Amino acid sequence: MPTDAFKTAKLSFGDKTLDLPMQSPTAGPDVIDIRKLYALGDVFTYDPGFTSTAACESAITYIDGDKGELLYRGYPIDQLAEKSHFLEVCYILLYGELPDTAKLDDFVSRVTNHTMLHEQMHFFYRGFRRDAHPMAIICGVQGAMSSFYHDSIDISDPWQREVATIRMIAKMPTIVAWAYKYSVGQPFIYPRNDLDYASNFLQMCFAVPAEDYVVNPILSRAMDRIFTLHADHEQNASTSTVRLAGSSGANPFACIAAGIACLWGPAHGGANQACLEMLREIGTVDRIPEYIARAKDKDDPFRLMGFGHRVYKNFDPRAKVMKESADEVLGLLGIENNPTLQVAKELERIALEDPYFVEKKLYPNVDFYSGIILDAMGFPTSMFTPIFALARTVGWIAQWKEMMEDPTQKIGRPRQLYTGETSRDYVDIENRA
Ligand code: SDX
Repeated sequence: MPTDAFKTAKLSFGDKTLDLPMQSPTAGPDVIDIRKLYALGDVFTYDPGFTSTAACESAITYIDGDKGELLYRGYPIDQLAEKSHFLEVCYILLYGELPDTAKLDDFVSRVTNHTMLHEQMHFFYRGFRRDAHPMAIICGVQGAMSSFYHDSIDISDPWQREVATIRMIAKMPTIVAWAYKYSVGQPFIYPRNDLDYASNFLQMCFAVPAEDYVVNPILSRAMDRIFTLHADHEQNASTSTVRLAGSSGANPFACIAAGIACLWGPAHGGANQACLEMLREIGTVDRIPEYIARAKDKDDPFRLMGFGHRVYKNFDPRAKVMKESADEVLGLLGIENNPTLQVAKELERIALEDPYFVEKKLYPNVDFYSGIILDAMGFPTSMFTPIFALARTVGWIAQWKEMMEDPTQKIGRPRQLYTGETSRDYVDIENRA
């Protein structure tokens, strides 16, 4: 709950002066509570893109964009990336506290034992072209989940909400891995309960029936860390989409499908794919100045993918961890001279010295280095955003769960600044000019 609502904001316009209550958070800016503004002042606020708008109250994730700080339930992301593991991070995001051994074992066991998909779901994959983008496939399959799991779609039942939560976290790796297998024409590999979450995902992606598959511990640790770094991120576009969908009472599977659809955009989760494709297009460090110039050219729509952020006006703390992980993983794999990594590092160095990027406070974000690691693991660029969606599923669900447990939550229904035609009469076609 906010600490208190002791302050007021005085708003004067025309012949009106309104005293609007303010609320102070536990961290971050105070808010002006404008819920009664329209009733009292007959005016709307106007904030397309929500650059200055808090759309909800939340206790899950805190970002300080100026400090480059990211906390999951108060725990700094770099500590979690180093000391925790993804399923423990899921527990923290969902339930708010570090689990004891018994609670963690129980949570891991519940997730581990729900990784299989209903066998009929195979047929959804077969309906797609082989060259379908995996995001199209996982969006469709995730939405279809509500037609298979009727016993966990009653959002008014806390137990059904919990079952749906575990099912989606557990089944997303299977859904994503099978989208990859379908795209490469290989048979689906079933989940294995003897493997940890990240290792299981890797074996479902890269094992083949013709031979045994041994998970590389370097890669599974890196995969687990990538999941942790992408798990949640306050009220980003896809999380806000999930909240808005959930506010209507839509079932949780449909809400997460909406989040997947929003994440796909290149300005959001699609940036990791776009970034690696950009780095490959640049190809060598001597071509970097050409692309820096294009990024600065107002007449050129080109942007440096993986750079900039609505909130971070300092380093994205996830990018820092991801850069260290890229160095570690590629070094351990013996490909530290990977040309794409060299281009990325030189591009970052040049951009961070360029006045344009310095003045606009544009730093590498989470998507700048992640693709280099995923590429080194053997994933095609089309799998980068599905992997982001896999990791973000827990954040979407935690935020949805928080909203569903809020007794004051209402359907989200923004208004608008209308600049269209005022009322006018219809003209029969024979009388038109
Ligand atoms: C994610 O919100 C989240 O938390 C998202 C995310 C999460 O975990 O959920 O962190 C994940 O989506 C990370 C962002 C991935 N997207 C990209 O890397 C795409 C490239 N970045 C940009 O498109 C942009 O930086 C955004 C979309 C990320 C942020 O856009 P904003 O906040 O709306 O900022 P803006 O577009 O108004 O840019 C401000 C200025 C503009 O110049 P002016 O019009 O003021 O002259 O900075 C420029 C922009 O042209 N600018 C860039 C740039 N990003 C912003 N110029 C060149 N290259 C860029 N990448």
